[in-house]
Amino acid sequence: MRTILVTGGAGFIGANFVRMVLEEHPDTTVVNLDVLTYAGNIENLKGYTANPNHVFVRGDIGDAALVAGLMDKYKIGAVINFAAESHVDRSLVEPGVFIQTNVQGTLTLLKIALEKKIERFVQISTDEVYGSLGPEGFFTESTPLAPNSPYSASKAAADMLVRAFGHSWGLPYNITRCSNNYGPYQFPEKMIPLMINNALNNKPLPVYGDGLYVRDWLYVYDHCTAIWKVLTKAPAGTIYNIGGNNEKTNLEVIRLILNRLGKPHSLIHHVKDRPGHDRRYAIDSAKIMKELDWRPTVTFEEGVNRTIDWYLANTDWLKHVVSGQYQQYYESMYANRR
Ligand code: NAD
Ligand code: DAU
Repeated sequence: MRTILVTGGAGFIGANFVRMVLEEHPDTTVVNLDVLTYAGNIENLKGYTANPNHVFVRGDIGDAALVAGLMDKYKIGAVINFAAESHVDRSLVEPGVFIQTNVQGTLTLLKIALEKKIERFVQISTDEVYGSLGPEGFFTESTPLAPNSPYSASKAAADMLVRAFGHSWGLPYNITRCSNNYGPYQFPEKMIPLMINNALNNKPLPVYGDGLYVRDWLYVYDHCTAIWKVLTKAPAGTIYNIGGNNEKTNLEVIRLILNRLGKPHSLIHHVKDRPGHDRRYAIDSAKIMKELDWRPTVTFEEGVNRTIDWYLANTDWLKHVVSGQYQQYYESMYANRR
């Protein structure tokens, strides 16, 4: 029996990870620390809050006393740090909170993990720390970091802190850098669920710039299995890129969604671009495939079908998350893009 501290486990990827662990690894207890920002949603853990292997704690990763107390109380063996401010557009409007959570919060976790002699610290990072690619080539683990947005700069800073704690004091760590995830429970500020939600409501689909930006899409369950492999099999002090080998332009993805929902392409509206918009991300996953025997299992077509089916079957979830604050966010974020 092992006990892990998952931070940000009420967010999109964290909740999918917690669900996977509780379903597939019943010898593991999950202590789930999440402050429940706008993106954190206890509904994402429906059916699992009373699970005897799951303890949910509402709190901030920057609260040192709380984190230290949890590590002692539950004899935490490993930390998997998902907690973050995760949306690029928001970071361009309000970068301070990204530094607070992604940098300061991670620093607090690192200090306490070191003090409590945690066996493994897994930092969930992103391919965005590598910057942007031209039409050719892939990010490998040795690609120099060149973050372009306040979000990716804060994630790169956190990665550097994790590395420094390993180098200076021997903290046993891993860093994972994944490409764009999609799937159930993703907050509809991100491209795929935003487009599904707008299409369902016959609202215009706001495509930034020419829509020819490329992302390497990975179904969230495949990201979760990769993280589990890293947690349980990787040597300390290693970094793994995780990708779907599945490059698509934004317009390709949006047309697929419209076709699948039987909605007209006339809903597509090109709007003002994101400042500093990274043109292309593409991941070379050879290292994790070779060393940890990980493979993505869900094709893009299958993943998009599953995702759309999930949003269609969970209209209540969608209604709850898009009410109130989301409406204000949508109005302010898209008002000056028209
Ligand atoms: P998300 O925004 O859906 O969830 C983030 C979660 O962290 C929320 O539940 C939120 O309440 C929680 N949180 C925020 N600040 C906190 C704090 N101070 N203390 C405790 N909890 C806090 O994000 P996501 O898309 O699930 O991303 C999870 C992680 O994976 C992030 O670190 C992100 O950088 C990384 N990542 C995301 C993607 C992607 O495509 N979404 C890809 C690669 C890496
Ligand atoms: O690559 C991993 C990263 O992927 C993660 O680290 C981030 O947390 C996650 O948010 C995601 O970042 P992106 O900026 O790539 O994702 P987003 O869903 O915001 O945008 C995907 C693409 O779609 C991007 O080219 C911008 C475009 N877009 C996005 C929105 C929200 C639009 O054209 N219109 C939109 O309304």
